[in-house]
Amino acid sequence: MIDQVTVDRIIGAADIVEVVQDYVSLKKRGVNYLGNCPFHNEKTPSFTVSPAKGIYKCFGCGKGGNSVSFIMEHEHLTYVEALKFLAKKYHIEVEEKEVTAEELKSRNERESLMVAVAWAQRYFTDILHKHTEGKSVALSYFKERGFRDDIIEKFQLGYCLEQRNAFTTAAQREGYKLEYLVKTGLSVQRENDAFDRFMGRVMFPIHSISGRVIAFGGRIMRSDKKLAKYINSPESDIYHKSNVLYGIYFAKQSITQQNRCLLVEGYTDVISLHQAGVENVVASSGTALTPDQIRLIKRFTPNITMLYDGDAAGIKASLRGIDLVLEEGLNVKVVLLPDGEDPDSYARSHSATEVLDFIAKNETDFIHFKTRLLLDDAKNDPIKKAGLITDIVRTISVIPDSITRSVYIKECSRMLDIDESILYTEVGSQRRKKLEEVFGRVRQEPEAKPITPSVPSFVSEVFCEEQEKEIIYFLLKYGHKVLFELDNENLEPNEREVTAGQYIIAELMNDELDFQNLVYRKMFNEYKTVMERETQVDNRYFINFPDPEISSLAVDILAQRHRLSRIWDNHPSNSSDIIDYLNHAIPKAIMVYKSKIIQMAINNLRNQLGTLGKEQIDEQREVMQQMANLTNLRGILSKELSRILV
Ligand code: CTP
Ligand code: MN
Repeated sequence: MIDQVTVDRIIGAADIVEVVQDYVSLKKRGVNYLGNCPFHNEKTPSFTVSPAKGIYKCFGCGKGGNSVSFIMEHEHLTYVEALKFLAKKYHIEVEEKEVTAEELKSRNERESLMVAVAWAQRYFTDILHKHTEGKSVALSYFKERGFRDDIIEKFQLGYCLEQRNAFTTAAQREGYKLEYLVKTGLSVQRENDAFDRFMGRVMFPIHSISGRVIAFGGRIMRSDKKLAKYINSPESDIYHKSNVLYGIYFAKQSITQQNRCLLVEGYTDVISLHQAGVENVVASSGTALTPDQIRLIKRFTPNITMLYDGDAAGIKASLRGIDLVLEEGLNVKVVLLPDGEDPDSYARSHSATEVLDFIAKNETDFIHFKTRLLLDDAKNDPIKKAGLITDIVRTISVIPDSITRSVYIKECSRMLDIDESILYTEVGSQRRKKLEEVFGRVRQEPEAKPITPSVPSFVSEVFCEEQEKEIIYFLLKYGHKVLFELDNENLEPNEREVTAGQYIIAELMNDELDFQNLVYRKMFNEYKTVMERETQVDNRYFINFPDPEISSLAVDILAQRHRLSRIWDNHPSNSSDIIDYLNHAIPKAIMVYKSKIIQMAINNLRNQLGTLGKEQIDEQREVMQQMANLTNLRGILSKELSRILV
């Protein structure tokens, strides 16, 4: 962490016009400056910089923020990284908090691994271009595959000689310790002897998001059934397969610009697409797609297109990927290439325009993709069809956002000719099941604490900004506090504790309530995702969050600049009272939120009633029934509320 004084100095020094001008050419227009937005493609400038306010705002794509968020966005850095970046520009010394000897040791060790790997990359590239064997065997192989010189250079391709330990010996001669060569998997140790893991293979360096080489994939050049076509660096302190994507460093700019990320399977797919001019592409490379990889993409765009072979393996891989991507709250489309083609072969035999055309024409959203695929299989078999419905419902139910879910439910209902209400019920019960796996213990013990009355799902899409803000405030500021303990002997003492965060999440998810304010919703979903992983949420995670909307909301709330509604004016200052206070305030906030939603829903229904014709007796009866239910529920809620208020 950087201390606050330094942060203030950096922010004070980083003049917004100067910072932006390093990337965008600006013209003065009155008190402001104007230029072409670096975050989306535009011909007429709508990117405005206000030196007085210290902010930028694009009236085309809506991006806006201060110097720090500009650097975060443009350089794809975290908050702290962006601060350091600016500190360098303005020659401000950054004093980091003291590091322990332990931290220093592991940092140094990682750095040693990085340095060894960087050297290895230069060595392999040199061999490719300068060594006779490299030129005659490997470089000619790449040429035969149709890779251009500039592309071979850009991706820093290389070659490892077909000798037992030419690399290991050369590296040691240069002073790289065998320990580091082995830890990065470049060398393999057998008793007193070490040999080159990648001997006789062409080398594909794998880059971190900031462009440093952290691992390799090595391909054998002839086809040999006995040897694996590719071998990859093993896991190490600098290479965690599950959160690395091949090509992300070269793709990130284009992903932001296109607001879409293409996902392919292999190294050569990424490279050939680049060569064809399609640069917003990454590969999961050998591992099945992981949630961390998807979150990495999410830093740049919410839109993923999976581009796979049309064969059985490709279809299987895309099906597996779909649910994962949806679960992280991203949008997913699928493109299958003609059978027998992979993106690499297709890109080599077609121009960039043809590739983009093919994608545009064949891009199917997941529900069509899945339905068509499975319908072929199910045809008129009712049992299979039922299975298909369950399958699709399960997929829809993983989508975190309720509006998106309802769009797909509509679509699914149309395609499969099933009543929407049936699908809603099914999706609801799937979600509840899932929720119970996570928060089951809260619900198993409802008597331990009053859980606030439930809101029927059809009224949830009403906007109550103030109440949403309040709940987000409690979530962020006090989410980690233990609100109460369950009175259950069977649970371990630490399992009995229910934090404010768990309580709030369970309350909202139980009723399938989604915030209508998109920033609050994003924050809530992030919080939930972290909780599923970690039980304890560190607020710094949100302050330094790469999405500036989230980080500034977090900063706002944690700096207590939020003005809460007047009910909370008697905020206790004494920290020993705080739990008492939260025990009242949080359930109250949720109840107020729900009452508000219900009140607005009742109003909506009343309006609806006014529009119904005299002859629409059934509809009138239906609406009136709903109003009666809601009024009843409102009564229960206000009773609960007054009970808490005393
Ligand atoms: N892969 C791997 N190990 C293997 C086979 C494949 O790690 N034994 C990974 C590689 O990252 C590879 C990707 O899975 O790029 C896709 O495999 P495949 O389609 O077989 O390879 P291609 O990328 O098509 O490679 P090439 O065109 O060179 O045959
Ligand atoms: Mn291939």
